[in-house]
Amino acid sequence: MSPTYDVKDKVIAITGGASGIGLATAQLLASQGAKVSIADVQAKGLQDVASQIQSAGGTVHSTIVDVREPSQVESWISETVSRFGKLDGAANLAGVIPKCINIERVEELNEEDWKFTVDVNLTGVMHCLRAQIPNASRGASIVNAASVAGLGGFPKNAAYTAAKWGVIGLTKTAAKESFLLNRRGTIDTPMHRESTRIRGKEPDYKIPIARKGKAEEVANLIAFLLCDASSYMTGTVQVIDGATQRELRRDQCK
Ligand SMILES: NC(=O)c1ccc[n+]([C@@H]2O[C@H](COP(=O)([O-])OP(=O)(O)OC[C@H]3O[C@@H](n4cnc5c(N)ncnc54)[C@H](O)[C@@H]3O)[C@@H](O)[C@H]2O)c1
Repeated sequence: MSPTYDVKDKVIAITGGASGIGLATAQLLASQGAKVSIADVQAKGLQDVASQIQSAGGTVHSTIVDVREPSQVESWISETVSRFGKLDGAANLAGVIPKCINIERVEELNEEDWKFTVDVNLTGVMHCLRAQIPNASRGASIVNAASVAGLGGFPKNAAYTAAKWGVIGLTKTAAKESFLLNRRGTIDTPMHRESTRIRGKEPDYKIPIARKGKAEEVANLIAFLLCDASSYMTGTVQVIDGATQRELRRDQCK
């Protein structure tokens, strides 16, 4: 049986809602009575998720939004507030991996790929926070997706790593200004599968819990961070990675 979260009638905005962790988060929150406003660049994926939520009796509004475009993000948040009357929280989960992942060292970085990755993964989160914070109800929570890459250095993955470090810095700063939350993890989703395809292999670190995480497991953490049960947590980095970080730290000491 799934845990329950006190999200009934809360209005939650979610980016990356068409796939992976965003999709699982939207479905979980909607199944527990939240009104979800999902945004993504994938029109078909968004439509499919919205139909699934509606057929299950949930309340959902979907909008095609490119988080790199501030005007699109601002319109989406204004429309969410006009439609549902408030904004109780957000999960900023839209993200991409660089096209040159596992290929280029720092001295070889491709300008276009760097810009694409940083624009979506870091500047996109800034656009979301800038639109969401002034519209957020008292006591609202905002969860931003960082990564294990935001806590260490990852060879041949500089743009993603730098962007995710940036997400943590941005979130910690915003938390000191407005009380927000943060999370990160390593999970089996379309992004992870694409990254493995490009690399030609799974990451070489061991996951002490000997399996990949599921999007639904991260959705549970996000739901907890968004509900009142986590009201005394703010500006924290929540680790959900099958204990991989501990393993990485041990490796780094060798
Ligand atoms: N899966 C993992 O192992 C893992 C690990 C650490 C961090 N993360 C982070 O979690 C978040 C979700 O990842 P996921 O694994 O569910 O990936 P995913 O690829 O399944 O989903 C990402 C979604 O973001 C959307 N998106 C991409 N660019 C966008 C843009 N410009 N504007 C709006 N939407 C856009 C995509 O269309 C997609 O639906 C990402 O920020 C990712 O970096 C994932």
